[in-house]
Amino acid sequence: MKKDFLYGVGTSASQIEGAYAVDGKGLSMADLLPANKKKRFSCVQDGSFALANYDTQQEYYPTHNAIDFYHTYKDDIRLLAGLGINSIRISIMWSRIFPTGEENEPNEAGLTFYKSVVDECLKYGLEPIVTISHFDIPVHLIKKYGGWASRKMIDAYLKLCQVLFTTFKNKVHYWITFNEINMILHLPFVGGGLCFKEGENKEQKMYQAAHYQLVASSAATNLAHQIDPKNNIGCMLAAGEVYPFSCNPDDILAALQKNREQYFFSDIQVRGYYPSYARELFDQKQIKLDILPEDNEILKNTVDFVSLSYYSSRCVSVDPKIQQNITNGNAFASVKNPYLDVSDWGWQIDPVGFRITLNNLYDRYQKPLMVVENGLGAMDKLTSEQEVHDTYRIDYLQKHLSALQDSQKDGVDLIGYMAWSGIDSVSASTGEMSKRYGFLYVDYDNSGQGSGKRVKKDSYFWFKNWLTKNS
Ligand code: BG6
Repeated sequence: MKKDFLYGVGTSASQIEGAYAVDGKGLSMADLLPANKKKRFSCVQDGSFALANYDTQQEYYPTHNAIDFYHTYKDDIRLLAGLGINSIRISIMWSRIFPTGEENEPNEAGLTFYKSVVDECLKYGLEPIVTISHFDIPVHLIKKYGGWASRKMIDAYLKLCQVLFTTFKNKVHYWITFNEINMILHLPFVGGGLCFKEGENKEQKMYQAAHYQLVASSAATNLAHQIDPKNNIGCMLAAGEVYPFSCNPDDILAALQKNREQYFFSDIQVRGYYPSYARELFDQKQIKLDILPEDNEILKNTVDFVSLSYYSSRCVSVDPKIQQNITNGNAFASVKNPYLDVSDWGWQIDPVGFRITLNNLYDRYQKPLMVVENGLGAMDKLTSEQEVHDTYRIDYLQKHLSALQDSQKDGVDLIGYMAWSGIDSVSASTGEMSKRYGFLYVDYDNSGQGSGKRVKKDSYFWFKNWLTKNS
């Protein structure tokens, strides 16, 4: 590995902080997502139910307390630093800084919290990699403007960026504008705060919201560079190569088209303009976007690096019979690949796919890549000896880290790897605590009961040892 390679772990504010109504924080989109599986599944796609029922429903909302990182961050960061990492990915909750998104001045208490978090990271020599928007929007902006369906969001977002870039000048040098920006096409409420009316052209709305996010991301890139030329700005994709199920040319074409659903975003963020295939795509789907001439100018502010999450590859077939055999995977359904095992949640496990994904992204863009999420969600068990023997996670990480090293030998320019996640947190898709990814076990269950105690899993010691040998 290169000497300055960033090895770290990832976190996301809404999934760990809790303290959802403390120190002036406003309500966030994430706070409206109930634990109830059926209801949550509908909410992540379309926010109408979540907005209409939040005040009246007696639901359990897992992000309200999450793992209480808001109060335990000093200990948690110390424990994570103990892994021997040199970086950490965190995110900001917009509604802690601007509770409604429309205030003129930031909420000082919220800002003080993040200043302290960043200082704590720096104290242990951890380079902070900050995601500005990680599945989080102030609810007020959703109610008033319909979330990213509105152009108004661009200015609200840039106001947040201005505060962050000036406050953390000389302390934070790596920023990611939007977590998994392509998720807006798969989980539109989570990705963009979108709600839909019956009969509405959903894709029109999703691509319009995506356009506003892309403009906001490029404008933020420009702003960050103006405020501090040392800032490095990254886009982020929920990545994972889509394979053709067979060598039938129609399968190959279907895979190419599916892959473009993710590349659409990074093509714009890396190259600075809409790809030529977008015209045909929009014609087919009868999509007409509000794109101003000045938007096209703003889009020319391209990113410094490409970041990605990788959990699994996917597979597609044009044969309706094969297409029926579906498995889950980070909001992307996939045809089941007979060569791959799956996780407890049906996500396919494919380390070679990781190497393929990294190679393809680098071939396409020739920009430094940073892996900011990779890990295994599993049912861990705390033994009576207060240990967690997560051998399956060690196996997953071992194989994926080895694929990462192979991709470097292939010539991919990699600048960092953040395992997901440092510490057990509320699952973004299912709201469960039992879908655990961390090196640190957190003693809370799916209904928020437990001591909150942190326990180092076997994978914690394994990763520490791996880093000693490999970094
Ligand atoms: C990514 C998100 O999609 O996947 C994370 O950026 C999320 O926030 C991670 O936690 C794993 O997904 P899940 O749904 O298992 O938590």
